[in-house]
Amino acid sequence: MLSLLPVWMALSALTVCGSETEVFAPRRILRNNLQGKEINIITGHFIPAISILRNSSGHVIGYSDFLYHQLEYLAQRLKFTYKISIIRENTNGVKRNGSWNGLIGTLLREEADLALAPFAVSLERYEAIEFCGSITGDSTGILVKYPEPIVSSTSAIEVFSIGVWIGWIISAAAVVGISIILTCISKKLRIEDRKRGVADHKTFAWYLYGVLISQGSYLPSSPSPQKLLAATWCIVAFVFVNIYNSTLTSYMSVSYQRPLINSFSDLAASSTFKATVLTGSIQDIDLLRSSTAVLKTIADKIQKCSSDCRRFNQTEMFALVLGEEPYVSIVPRTVGIAALRKNNLEREKCRLAMAHETMSWKPMFMAVPKTSPYIEEINRESLWFIDTALFDYWHAQYLKRPLHCRLNYNTKGVSTKTFKNRVILKQFYLPFLILFCGYLLAFLQFLRERLGFMFKF
Ligand SMILES: *[C@@H]1O[C@H](CO)[C@@H](O)[C@H](O)[C@H]1NC(C)=O
Ligand SMILES: *[C@@H]1O[C@H](CO)[C@@H](O)[C@H](O)[C@H]1NC(C)=O
Repeated sequence: MLSLLPVWMALSALTVCGSETEVFAPRRILRNNLQGKEINIITGHFIPAISILRNSSGHVIGYSDFLYHQLEYLAQRLKFTYKISIIRENTNGVKRNGSWNGLIGTLLREEADLALAPFAVSLERYEAIEFCGSITGDSTGILVKYPEPIVSSTSAIEVFSIGVWIGWIISAAAVVGISIILTCISKKLRIEDRKRGVADHKTFAWYLYGVLISQGSYLPSSPSPQKLLAATWCIVAFVFVNIYNSTLTSYMSVSYQRPLINSFSDLAASSTFKATVLTGSIQDIDLLRSSTAVLKTIADKIQKCSSDCRRFNQTEMFALVLGEEPYVSIVPRTVGIAALRKNNLEREKCRLAMAHETMSWKPMFMAVPKTSPYIEEINRESLWFIDTALFDYWHAQYLKRPLHCRLNYNTKGVSTKTFKNRVILKQFYLPFLILFCGYLLAFLQFLRERLGFMFKF
């Protein structure tokens, strides 16, 4: 008997959702308790899983989205009919003073047989209800305002890192320095014929400069060490200038996008931004139970602004993010995507985006009361719904971020895209600054020469 203990433990571990499986008979008994019954279903407006359709005067005229399709499938397969009612407070349920409200509360009072809404798994919820009928899962993300594209006005410099620029200046100075030394040595030793002359360091520096801006320049006859030096410089300058030119073209046509709040730590660190959650959602529960410092800070902020930040209505949450005040929403990823679909309409300005960071993927189910006799059937047929690819057929579209207004983040959470607009004056801020400096220097030099000339007379 003792040797059977591990087997027994393994079997009991397998009976997660089905309360009916007998321990020593692992083959499940197929029930059909639902056949011919009319069951009570409670639901709410939880896009994108289920939406309540209303006409212009606010009367409910129907339901849509994948959970509703799943219900229709179950009803056909298990031959039951149903009556749907709508929850007054649009929430999965909040536990206050030991009692639940919302959908979970309705199930606990056994006023409904099935809650038609997505429930992410949590221990607290599991103590109250039974998860039933898999609908895969989702992770948590942050819905934010669409970031404005930034075009760098210093792009002409940013082509190379600071290190490259410093290295380049040092090497130029070194070349000039060496040429001066060479000139001095050759003058002193009078190695070269006087008539052939020696390019003095000023001429040489101008020559180097001419090569660098690819304008070519004339180097008067000079001794071979200087020639060698000049030739080496030419090769390096050629490579440098060409790399610069080709990179600059692509650099100036790219813009950068990064939401102000791009991660949970950004949100915790921000003193201005407020975060909203759907009351009783898994995000709400997760934040309250979280142990990391970042999430605790966010939870504290949400607690402080209370009814302002804990909402019962997703549409209100989206409206806050779209509004003037600095708000973001902590929502399941598919909910965020649904918001993007609804608000980033083609031909209009992009308005919403999802932040780079997502966290805590959780499996999701529908919910039934603990004592429900329908658990086995709903589980079985929901698995068939997935197996026959009907679930994918209805659900896949909710997982895809729409192409329009999509931010393709790199690993640093920055999205870049080719800049389609015309190049604007702002981008030339730095080159123009350099140009004016050049004018000024030339003018000063002119004055110096003029004055010097006048004083001689
Ligand atoms: C909305 O639906 C209700 C119930 O079906 C109906 O009485 C009402 O006239 C409808 N309103 C409009 C504007 O269609
Ligand atoms: C919970 O209980 C406390 C004291 O028993 C009471 O003051 C508070 O209003 C209750 N909260 C709710 C939401 O019922």
